Amino acid sequence: MPILARPLRWIAVFLPIVAALPIQGCDGESTGVGGGGTTSSTPIELPPPLDPLPAVEPTKTDQFATGGTCAQCHFAGESATMHDPNGEDISPVHLWRASMMAFATKDPYYLSVVQDARTSRPEAEALIDAACLRCHAPAASIESMSNGATLTFESITEGSDPVSHLARDGVTCSLCHQISPDNLGESGSFSGGFEVGFDREMFGPHKAPNTQPMEFFVEYTPVYAEHITKSEVCATCHTVVVPFLDASGNPTGDGFLEQATYLEWQNSTYASNAPCGQCHLPTEGSDGLPISSAISKYPDNLSKRTPFGQHSFEGGNAYMLRILADNVAWTGSEVSSAELLKAAERGEAHLQTAAELTILEPTLSGSVLMVGIDIVNRTGHKLPTGYPSRRMWLHVVGESQNGEILFESGKPGSDGSIESNGKRVDLEGLILPHRDEVGEGEVQVYEAIAVDSTGEPNHRPLQQIGFGKDNRILPEGWSNSGPNAEWTAPQGIGSDATFAPGKDRVTYRMPAGSSITRVKATLYYQTLPRTNADALAVTPVPAAVRFSDMVKARPPAPVVMATAVRE
Ligand code: HEC
Ligand code: HEC
Ligand code: HEC
Ligand code: HEC
Ligand code: HEC
Repeated sequence: MPILARPLRWIAVFLPIVAALPIQGCDGESTGVGGGGTTSSTPIELPPPLDPLPAVEPTKTDQFATGGTCAQCHFAGESATMHDPNGEDISPVHLWRASMMAFATKDPYYLSVVQDARTSRPEAEALIDAACLRCHAPAASIESMSNGATLTFESITEGSDPVSHLARDGVTCSLCHQISPDNLGESGSFSGGFEVGFDREMFGPHKAPNTQPMEFFVEYTPVYAEHITKSEVCATCHTVVVPFLDASGNPTGDGFLEQATYLEWQNSTYASNAPCGQCHLPTEGSDGLPISSAISKYPDNLSKRTPFGQHSFEGGNAYMLRILADNVAWTGSEVSSAELLKAAERGEAHLQTAAELTILEPTLSGSVLMVGIDIVNRTGHKLPTGYPSRRMWLHVVGESQNGEILFESGKPGSDGSIESNGKRVDLEGLILPHRDEVGEGEVQVYEAIAVDSTGEPNHRPLQQIGFGKDNRILPEGWSNSGPNAEWTAPQGIGSDATFAPGKDRVTYRMPAGSSITRVKATLYYQTLPRTNADALAVTPVPAAVRFSDMVKARPPAPVVMATAVRE
């Protein structure tokens, strides 16, 4: 059994947050080593960058087949089927192949962090491979296990056997569609505990599928299965527990709940009526109407089906799709940069559905203008959710009648950092505190900061033991007494009474209040904060050297989620 398929006992790691917080404003000498060894003043010798990845050749194994083998029928291209009213190809293969799930193993950020983990804990290399490849190369992990082998990092980066091709195909079609209903929703299914049988049955949402073409060409039987549209399928990978290792590199049996997207969703109003697919595999077309289409271009006499889920899997990671578009040849993928850029644009548009921003009527308190700003979470989980590098912040400007800036907080720097009053505030080793009120030189950042056993922020998953701060906005309906509350409770929000399920209110205190006649607010989202990028730039493994070059060529600019103005 793979290490992570066992139900893990999760331990709650509630650190003494206040004690662990370096004070904001101390001038940025970094104290942590967590960034991946960035504090050393001796120059680090970096290896040459990781070579380009081999292409994914269409491959069939005992249990799986790469997504390319489904294209014969489930890729629309020039055919008359599976198009949106505006003419866009909405076929599963077309949309999936430009999504982050298709690139889950060809993702240079992911490869950097895994290679760094194995290099820093060589004694635990096999365990790290098993743990880190399980969800990012899920089909190949299972196939290797069935063959009595363990998938390795090298098979992704260099391998040319069938299992390596399957590995580079990421979260591939034949994995998701073969996840068995047996243990779904149980904790044993989380953190990569999905099960796949040997029956070669491809589960789908439609009754009585025409089985012959698939049986003949790919030796799978399409089968109607109710469970495929349930969030519990997604839960298998979108609940991530990273195992704790002891001094000799053996798992202790406990772990750090790094991502809890499904558990967050379970403790929300969405759990009763909006599964993940409702937002991530939307069934409405560009005209807002339910899509009705044949689901295969062959044979050409198939009846139309509805609902039809678009496999776009838009999340927040448009930045990585742009990096991939810049470096598509390096990834070995046959997808064009144009397709990836389109996917990035869809991701950015999706981010703009995630939140509502409102500036309340300002009031004067003495000479200080008090401006309340509300952020409402419109997603089915925390905002932001997922990998703990994601963050969101407010850029707020107070202007005079003639446009002079009299107050500014949270200006994005050109290099992916955050500035207030012209000074970078998101310094290495610092945890910016959650704020109910924001004054001069301060900033409100929504994020989960993973820390190590010393309480310092740390980007290395295997050194993380918990969150030192988690003020990501809760989903609507989240409750202290709801499911998984102990695992998803916010951390470090103090006594902020306006931090409520589904929303947060922050009040800005602007001196020179009577001269301010206009307030502008922008909510930003960022995949990769500057400190994470800086840490990778000095991480001495080939994948990090490669990724760092990519990041230098395209610094991690934040994406605008919402804007508001009040005169
Ligand atoms: C992350 C899991 C996942 C992956 C990966 C995935 N699918 Fe799906 N697929 C689903 C879900 C969930 C549905 C049900 C959508 C709905 O109707 O709500 C679905 C539906 C379908 C359908 C029925 C038609 C429709 O869109 O409703 C077909 C055909 C299909 N998928 C083929 C594919 C192919 C081919 C690939 C790879 C190119 C693929 N899927 C990748 C989860 C996945
Ligand atoms: C249980 C499944 C699972 C396991 C096991 C897992 N991951 Fe992930 N990983 C995910 C998911 C899901 C995401 C995407 C979350 C998001 O987009 O916010 C992700 C995202 C990432 C990212 C961010 C990629 C990007 O482009 O921003 C990195 C880096 C990463 N994982 C590294 C690792 C490492 C290192 C390991 C092993 C310690 C690991 N993962 C194990 C599921 C998993
Ligand atoms: C030779 C054509 C062909 C190929 C290749 C093919 N399919 Fe299909 N697929 C079909 C047809 C035909 C249907 C049924 C359409 C119907 O009845 O409306 C179907 C249905 C499905 C369904 C929906 C089942 C349901 O009951 O909802 C899924 C899921 C699916 N295929 C996945 C895949 C995957 C994954 C691959 C690649 C491994 C693949 N298919 C390869 C032709 C094909
Ligand atoms: C009501 C709509 C909605 C529902 C339901 C929903 N999501 Fe999301 N999801 C979004 C939006 C909008 C975003 C973009 C904002 C963000 O990144 O947090 C998003 C982002 C994500 C991300 C990317 C996070 C990041 O920033 O890297 C992942 C992963 C994700 N969702 C998974 C899921 C899973 C798994 C479920 C079900 C358990 C789910 N979502 C349910 C709307 C939804
Ligand atoms: C077998 C594991 C697995 C399953 C099952 C799975 N995912 Fe994912 N998903 C991943 C991994 C791994 C990533 C991150 C890839 C990366 O960033 O490198 C990811 C990323 C995502 C993202 C983030 C995309 C972005 O651009 O930010 C969304 C959204 C998402 N998945 C939705 C879903 C939904 C909805 C389901 C259920 C229908 C699902 N996933 C099922 C493994 C899985």
